[in-house]
Amino acid sequence: MRDSPHQAYPLAPSNGYPRSDMDSLSPEEEKRKKRIKWAIYITAFSVFQVMVILVFALVIMKVRTPKFRIGDIRIQTFDTGNSASPAFNMTFIAPIRIKNANFGPYKYDASSVEFTYGGVPVGQAAIPKSKANFRSTKKLDVTVSLSSASLQSTSGLASELSTGTLTLGSQGQLDGKVEMMLIFKKKKSTQMNCTVTFNVTTKSVQDTKCN
Ligand SMILES: *[C@@H]1O[C@H](CO)[C@@H](O)[C@H](O)[C@H]1NC(C)=O
Ligand SMILES: *[C@@H]1O[C@H](CO)[C@@H](O)[C@H](O)[C@H]1NC(C)=O
Ligand SMILES: *[C@@H]1O[C@H](CO)[C@@H](O)[C@H](O)[C@H]1NC(C)=O
Repeated sequence: MRDSPHQAYPLAPSNGYPRSDMDSLSPEEEKRKKRIKWAIYITAFSVFQVMVILVFALVIMKVRTPKFRIGDIRIQTFDTGNSASPAFNMTFIAPIRIKNANFGPYKYDASSVEFTYGGVPVGQAAIPKSKANFRSTKKLDVTVSLSSASLQSTSGLASELSTGTLTLGSQGQLDGKVEMMLIFKKKKSTQMNCTVTFNVTTKSVQDTKCN
């Protein structure tokens, strides 16, 4: 009968109501079906909302540690002594990179990057207070002058220079805050720890490693 309502009720008015349900279900059953329909809608909507909140919490609001790195150094002057009188003087432009993957700016305080030889400071570069924008990399080029004058012992330098390389470290820390949605702030610090190897013969950068 429900398969062919037109034959069973040829004069049923075409007033826009769903034909078979209106005709064959009792009012209670009709109500029950509606309630089930609503329950399904509400459940689906709640699940959708929970998913939206989870994505928001896990992806958007997750506070990631910005990356603090040194890029490809551009050497300006590079003078080295030999193994008999081990020494170096150099100036270069160091591209500092602060990569912020957060959905909000990273505002950091003034800081510095220290350059070391065998763990001993041989020069430094100032990092002015600034910010890395929403999902972007702040780039700043600093000019650095380094000299072996402050090394107490040059025996390590003598043996390294005899192999034709010079290895420097660059260390630093930025302290700042990631600002989410303009209201919520989270303190974040990030460290730089890079090693740069120079080729003394060609006076060029042979390798840059950061961890
Ligand atoms: C480095 O600079 C100092 C001071 O200017 C100078 O006395 C020294 O000879 C230089 N060393 C080298 C290896 O160029
Ligand atoms: C320095 O660079 C030259 C030219 O690329 C290369 O022949 C030499 O082996 C390098 N020195 C070291 C210590 O790697
Ligand atoms: C920097 O990295 C070197 C190895 O690449 C490691 O030996 C050293 O402990 C690190 N320093 C800091 C301050 O993390």
